[in-house]
Amino acid sequence: MGKLTMDKLVALCKNRGIIFPGSEIYGGFANTWDFGPVGVELKNNVKRAWWKRFVQEDNSCFGLDAAILMNPKVWEASGHVQSFGDPKMDCKNCKTRHRADTIIENFSKGTVSAEGMTNEQMEEYIAIHDIKCPVCGKRDWTPIRKFNPMFTTSRGTLEEDADKVYLRPETCQGEYVNFLNVQRTMRAKVPFAIAQIGKSFRNEITPGNFLFRTVEFEQMELQMFCKEESSMDIYNKYKEKALQFVKDLNVKEENLRFHDHDKLAHYAKAACDIQYNFPIGWQELNGIHHRSTWDLSRHQEFSGKNMSYTDPITNEKYIPNVIEYSIGADRLTLLLLCEAYEEQELEDGETRVVMHFHPAIAPYKVAVMPLIKKTHGEKAQEVLNILNKEFMTQYDESGSIGKRYRRQDEIGTPYCVTIDDDTLNNNTVTVRDRDTMEQIVLKIDELVEYIKEKVKFN
Ligand code: GAP
Repeated sequence: MGKLTMDKLVALCKNRGIIFPGSEIYGGFANTWDFGPVGVELKNNVKRAWWKRFVQEDNSCFGLDAAILMNPKVWEASGHVQSFGDPKMDCKNCKTRHRADTIIENFSKGTVSAEGMTNEQMEEYIAIHDIKCPVCGKRDWTPIRKFNPMFTTSRGTLEEDADKVYLRPETCQGEYVNFLNVQRTMRAKVPFAIAQIGKSFRNEITPGNFLFRTVEFEQMELQMFCKEESSMDIYNKYKEKALQFVKDLNVKEENLRFHDHDKLAHYAKAACDIQYNFPIGWQELNGIHHRSTWDLSRHQEFSGKNMSYTDPITNEKYIPNVIEYSIGADRLTLLLLCEAYEEQELEDGETRVVMHFHPAIAPYKVAVMPLIKKTHGEKAQEVLNILNKEFMTQYDESGSIGKRYRRQDEIGTPYCVTIDDDTLNNNTVTVRDRDTMEQIVLKIDELVEYIKEKVKFN
């Protein structure tokens, strides 16, 4: 059946209340998206599943919600002020800005990595291969420059005493600067982790791949503080754990792969991405990085605060190594939308679009439908009031039952409950399964337990 394209996904998301273009009535605002009533449930469920797996189920991991605006010195310590920047060039003809490394990688269909290239080497490659602007088709590039994608704002009431502050481009710095606070208050022993979910902002210039790269996005980041001796084992453990998490969300193994980095930052001991086969090709889903003692040492240097940990048994004092696991909530949501999508030809010759979300992340768990509004509507409302105490529940009484099923299939609702004469006579309902389309009959008072069991994320 039809192959998924980003355009198809954008249209489905817009029509079904999942994701709308940002500021649409003003003609939009590039690389921003608004999550609609269905999408907000989906993304919240994605974040909940991540938190459950990595924080709730791991007693050595502690949650955090740090401020977006941080002391600007944080970004000097992290290196963002000086060097954070992607190699960018502008097309002089159509005035669009592009990442030179992406242009090369797309041109070579992923066979050439620009990871280790200097700006001069990239310019030479682009000239030799006569690579043109993907927007206007001309080759009229500016030289490649580093571009700092941190958004700035100012603090202070008067223009003249305003201090420049940054919107954070990553959440993890909140975890580093709170290392001592969390360790002390939670009486945490190394190895332990700090995790948070929050917004990050980057002044990204992108060719518009929907949620893949946006200027405002949520990150789910976890820093594991550990001793050097155990750090490689922990790094490898997080690689596997991160992969297992995505597989447990019903993502097929053949669509996932590890990509170990050849070129490492000078302080890093190892780095790896998990990539997914998006409709735009194999791309990074998340990163797992062995960052040695770099982050805590830099914050010690710039803040003047001793960031060492003291082992309570041996009294040894040291700055822990950090293993970072970082994944975008929006990017994972995009992946799950791609993975869930199916156009299925039915026996009667019709086609249905169905989103096979893992039930735990499905925006709505169940839909209640009276077979005939007039006859069964009141009873259906009673069932709705039982179910919506436990689950996000939709109510749909308009159109044929077939059409109502199709609407739920398109937003991935795993169960539809139909209220008919048998419900009035025997208190039984028909429960239809989204994936198999099979129907079973259950007593109303069995419904909550039945659905609860099915929508768990383990
Ligand atoms: N603290 C490390 C860090 O921020 P990163 O590779 O720049 O590393 C981590 O980002 C993850 O955040 C990426 O793997 C991706 O899932 C997500 N991400 C990064 N930039 C993004 C953007 N502009 N839009 C959406 N997600 C993004």
